[in-house]
Amino acid sequence: MSLSDRRHHSEVPAYDKLKRATSDLDAPIAVIDLDAFDRNAADLLRRADGTPIRLASKSVRCRALIERALEAGLQGILAFTLPEALWLAGHGHEDLVVAYPTVDRGALRALAAGPCDRVTIMADCVEHLDLAVAAVQQAGGGPILVALDVDAGWWPLGGRIRIGARRSPVRTPEQAAALAREVVARPELRLDGLMSYEAHIAGVGDRPPGRPLMGAAIRAMQRASLRELAPRRAAVVEAVRAVAPLRFVNGGGTGSVERTALEPAVTEVAAGSGLYGPTLFDAYTSFSPTPAALFALPVVRKPDAGTATALGGGYPASGAAGVDRLPAPHLPAGLRLDKQEGAGEVQTPLRGPGAAALRVGDVVWMRHAKAGELCERFDSVHLVRDEERVGEVPTYRGEGECFL
Ligand SMILES: Cc1ncc(COP(=O)(O)O)c(C=O)c1O
Repeated sequence: MSLSDRRHHSEVPAYDKLKRATSDLDAPIAVIDLDAFDRNAADLLRRADGTPIRLASKSVRCRALIERALEAGLQGILAFTLPEALWLAGHGHEDLVVAYPTVDRGALRALAAGPCDRVTIMADCVEHLDLAVAAVQQAGGGPILVALDVDAGWWPLGGRIRIGARRSPVRTPEQAAALAREVVARPELRLDGLMSYEAHIAGVGDRPPGRPLMGAAIRAMQRASLRELAPRRAAVVEAVRAVAPLRFVNGGGTGSVERTALEPAVTEVAAGSGLYGPTLFDAYTSFSPTPAALFALPVVRKPDAGTATALGGGYPASGAAGVDRLPAPHLPAGLRLDKQEGAGEVQTPLRGPGAAALRVGDVVWMRHAKAGELCERFDSVHLVRDEERVGEVPTYRGEGECFL
């Protein structure tokens, strides 16, 4: 009896649905469940409560799904590299903000001479500005639109503790206004917006599984940080607006949408991961995205009765290495990674009560820990709706693009 026939298991309908939708395909494959994707998009918009959401494209990395999210109501793109933004602009996208600084001189020249009214670069120091100025001087065109990146970290105890991502050195209203004046002083540039991303709130789950005390500590940290951040962000925006107008003030991410959207100084929030619903976003109290991005691996051997070994699967997520970065078995239920081998380069042994029923040739469904990185492993994703496969679309990789 194959596992898909064992209807007494509650997970079998979901497993069967995926199996029926993909029965003519050979794994490994990646799948996007469109019902889950659309539900997740609607939930992000509900949480933002009218504040526009700019789509973090690094967390999608597939043009067709970027377009689907924009059609669902997200507005504008937060790109992850300038070459990516130029490529998306070449496909007709507008209102692209590159979320990270660039020192890519060729791309800056292409921007200056190209879609400089549709792409905004990020800067947090005069070196970034000078590189953009040089590009305009060499390539002509411009002005290049610039946004200022402002640190959103929490520095309690007079800065002896620093919580948050190590991003911008610009933190205070005075520092931000000084950098804004540097932009305004350069005719090759134009000040366009401001961004401050609170990674320690938006990207840190406040309900880590099996660790209630840690969860309480994270929630306390996030509350305290927001109390400090909201007035500082407002003061920064006011100080910069005294120098030049700002088209947008961007903040937040999937994990903080409803909280960041409440700040009057913020005109838009960013989000992306919530569309795919990877495992790192299972650990939040305020929302739970439906897993929309899955990948299937074939069971290729049974080293013993209690183990089913799948082909490939070693797709760990970026960040500080730890078990939370590993892919997780999703369906059938009752599978876990082997502690010794983890998710391997060429094989992933799966153990646990669900493994015994798996046969060679069956398929197991896995989830990635992060969102868009999965797309670096597959040329395409298959689109599934209910029990049907309704399409196949290329990932960035499938279009021959690899930006990071
Ligand atoms: C600048 C910036 N904003 C927002 C986000 C949030 O993206 P997501 O919603 O995919 O977590 C990120 C993620 O790293 C980011 O770097």
